[in-house]
Amino acid sequence: MNKLVINGGRRLSGSISVSGAKNAGLPVMAAAALCDDICIIDNLPYVKDIIIMGELLRCMGAEVSLSPNGRAVINPRGIKNVIPPEDLVAKMRASTYLMGILLGRFHEACVPPPGGCSIGARPIDQHLRGFEALGATVTEGEFLTLKAQKLVGNDVYLEASVGATINLILAATKAEGVTVIHGCAKEPHVVDVANFLNNMGASIRGAGTDTIRIRGVQHLRSASYTIIPDQIETGTWMIIAAATKGDIVIENCIPTHMEVVSDKLRKTGAEVIEGDDFLRVRCDGPLTATNIRTMVYPGFPTDLQQPMSAMLTVARGRSVITETIYEQRYRHLEEMRRMGAKVQVEDRLAFIDGVDKLYGRSVEATDLRAGAALIVAGLMAEGTTTISGVKYIDRGYERIEDKLTSVGADVRRI
Ligand code: EPU
Repeated sequence: MNKLVINGGRRLSGSISVSGAKNAGLPVMAAAALCDDICIIDNLPYVKDIIIMGELLRCMGAEVSLSPNGRAVINPRGIKNVIPPEDLVAKMRASTYLMGILLGRFHEACVPPPGGCSIGARPIDQHLRGFEALGATVTEGEFLTLKAQKLVGNDVYLEASVGATINLILAATKAEGVTVIHGCAKEPHVVDVANFLNNMGASIRGAGTDTIRIRGVQHLRSASYTIIPDQIETGTWMIIAAATKGDIVIENCIPTHMEVVSDKLRKTGAEVIEGDDFLRVRCDGPLTATNIRTMVYPGFPTDLQQPMSAMLTVARGRSVITETIYEQRYRHLEEMRRMGAKVQVEDRLAFIDGVDKLYGRSVEATDLRAGAALIVAGLMAEGTTTISGVKYIDRGYERIEDKLTSVGADVRRI
């Protein structure tokens, strides 16, 4: 079992290049399974979840070559309508996308229930309601079974779910006629998936707004596509720069995706300089408390709430965090209490009273972004922090210890 050992208290500086977006790469790989020909996808992060998606597609009959340089070549011609292996499906949330592609391709899907980080209940009722609107019958049992005589475009009403929006785009791309999805998620990765499908010949308009209109097509042609930079990795480095009183240039990112994070960091006293494709974050003085309320894009992303709230444990004053998306996304703060953080969690709220110092301790990451938060904590703390549960971090951060070392952190994997 891997652990990360961090000797904290260093000011990090230098430059970091952001990897491709995990949460765009996963559905883009799945979308390639709808194509009739070979697709080449570049800038995929070489992280565990992406590797699992490759394995899942392979188990379903696709030829997938995935290399550590971030390129996947996917030949979906051999895909069959098989039940994807339960052990792989249970490993991540993004396996929900198999429903959309199987339904789109075969009008039928039988899938085990998806897994994912344990951050509270994560129902998929919106996905299923959407599939039903396109003509599928859903039977819930040990496996989820979806069947449609044919998929027919319809009006679908969602509540800004990223996964449901993407899943409906996938299925509706191969449905007959026009589907209009109302109440769509507007996250950058939703737009990325739509762009990829459009490159293959799909007709998807409005991604990035509340309403997406999809005219179904019968065939999708071969395409090459480059995944957008990871918004959450970018934000994690921004927070790390501020938290360590550092000066980091974050290269290969999209600053406009980060506006709400930049604003919040400025409120805490950090300086954020925006370039065309880079951000520079530096901080000299003490950090000041601020309130965070997680919201769907373009609001403050829930995936950055954990690293940000970790940073705020040493900000002067009281910060109030409101987590509106997930029920249980404060476990990192419970761990950080043992490092000296003064935190009170009440349901969806966390009250953080800034302390002068955190102390290195052995802590456990219980989900991906909790892992990122504990890295922030370990970098700020006096002494040595040992983080277990690194498998969660490896699901979404590529070569994390190499990147940290390159900006001056004292970190090693044991
Ligand atoms: N929800 C429902 N019913 C549904 C779908 C969602 O009630 O049918 C609820 C969820 O329970 C949750 C909220 O709606 O409370 C948002 O869920 P959403 O569907 O937007 O999330 P997701 O698609 O399951 C993706 C990311 C998450 C990220 C969220 C929100 C992937 C693989 N996962 O999850 O990423 O937190 O969007 O932005 O794209 C992570 O990377 O650490 C991570 C958890």
